[in-house]
Amino acid sequence: MSAHPKSAAARSPVTVPRLFEMKAAGEKIVMLTAYDAGFAAQCEAAGVDVVLVGDSLGNVVQGRENTLPVTLDDMVYHSAAVKRGLVAPLLVADLPFMTYRDIDTALRSSARLVAEGGAAMVKLEGADYVLDAIHALDRRQVPVCAHLGLTPQSVHKFGGYRVQGKTRSAAERLIADAQAVEQAGASLLVLECMPAALAKTITAALRIPTIGIGAGVDCDGQVLVIYDMLGITPGRRPKFSRDFLAGTDSVADAIKAYARAVRNRSFPGPEHSF
Ligand code: KIV
Repeated sequence: MSAHPKSAAARSPVTVPRLFEMKAAGEKIVMLTAYDAGFAAQCEAAGVDVVLVGDSLGNVVQGRENTLPVTLDDMVYHSAAVKRGLVAPLLVADLPFMTYRDIDTALRSSARLVAEGGAAMVKLEGADYVLDAIHALDRRQVPVCAHLGLTPQSVHKFGGYRVQGKTRSAAERLIADAQAVEQAGASLLVLECMPAALAKTITAALRIPTIGIGAGVDCDGQVLVIYDMLGITPGRRPKFSRDFLAGTDSVADAIKAYARAVRNRSFPGPEHSF
């Protein structure tokens, strides 16, 4: 049996310029993680715009405590699998821990995600020294998704998974970092677990689209870990997620309900925000 959605109605491929058009038009961007061809095909069929092969696969697929043990080989393997299930959505793949620690390493790692994994964009966490890698990738025509706020690869520095940007100085730092990643050449920015008002300010200040997860409804789009939104994550579901499978009959309907809720702004609600 093939996971490839040959029968899916044709739709135009989602491109980086298209994401900018969506921001300008106020059209919400629907992003979801996938780790294999089967779930990728479900995202394809449900009209998801961007599919992220997140290093969250360390948690939800590999059963690890955090994302730090995920390797570049893991990411290439899962990205290539997801690519086989996709036609239209833009494929973004995470650069795992320490694979973008300097420019040369970032370029080599990203080349593998693009050439072997089929990714159209690579994602990395943070600002500061990471700005050099963003700039180098952008100069070499590799689109970059930055990621600020609760950046899971910094879990040990944060002392756990905590909402970021709650004090005035932390909020100002995040605004400055967001402007810096845009200036360095990022094409997309994930904002994770921060006050909704702060994410709104950042979104309004930037030309590049923002994608929220636990960052309120005013980001240009939303992303969730697919296991969380299907209610199959072991343990407690994060506050910022919702079980879209509850009350529907199939994974396909759950993903469609998520896409609809993002587009009509009914998700995330205040109960999913900080
Ligand atoms: O790894 C991941 O799935 C992510 C999303 C939660 C944004 O980075």
